Amino acid sequence: MIDMIYVLNGPNLNLMGLREPEIYGRETLADIEALCRFTTEKAGFSLRFFQSNIEGVLIDWIQDARQEASAVVINPAAYSHTSIAILDALKSFNGPVAEVHISNIHRRESFRHHSYISSRTDCTIVGCGILGYQFAIEFLVSKLKKIE
Ligand code: DQA
Repeated sequence: MIDMIYVLNGPNLNLMGLREPEIYGRETLADIEALCRFTTEKAGFSLRFFQSNIEGVLIDWIQDARQEASAVVINPAAYSHTSIAILDALKSFNGPVAEVHISNIHRRESFRHHSYISSRTDCTIVGCGILGYQFAIEFLVSKLKKIE
């Protein structure tokens, strides 16, 4: 079986390219998916790519990852700063987890400086734009190859 990586995106990331482009850039969610697919398949892994504006849907996908995925990349978007439920779901997943933020949350409003999710993740990448997804996948792949 080919190892699967899940990439999960939280609320408003469907508006990438349209929403606050001075902060998030002009790339679309489809561009992010293409970058993730290229990076994942080049490493010999397969990808499932998701986006939802609904917290419970993201939690259901994290629970599915328990059976299906070797590793998870998550940009929880605004839920990073509020969601103990997403943190708990990630704690039920045994593989490595990478958190991505397109913008540098530490240079923005103080309410964005804390992420509940970071206490569970193996790495957190902020401020690299959409390249952060590529770096996250590369990090997870190298971690998975060491575990094998
Ligand atoms: C974000 C940062 C969050 O603070 C914000 O709510 C988002 C996107 C990022 O990728 O930079 O929606 O996660």
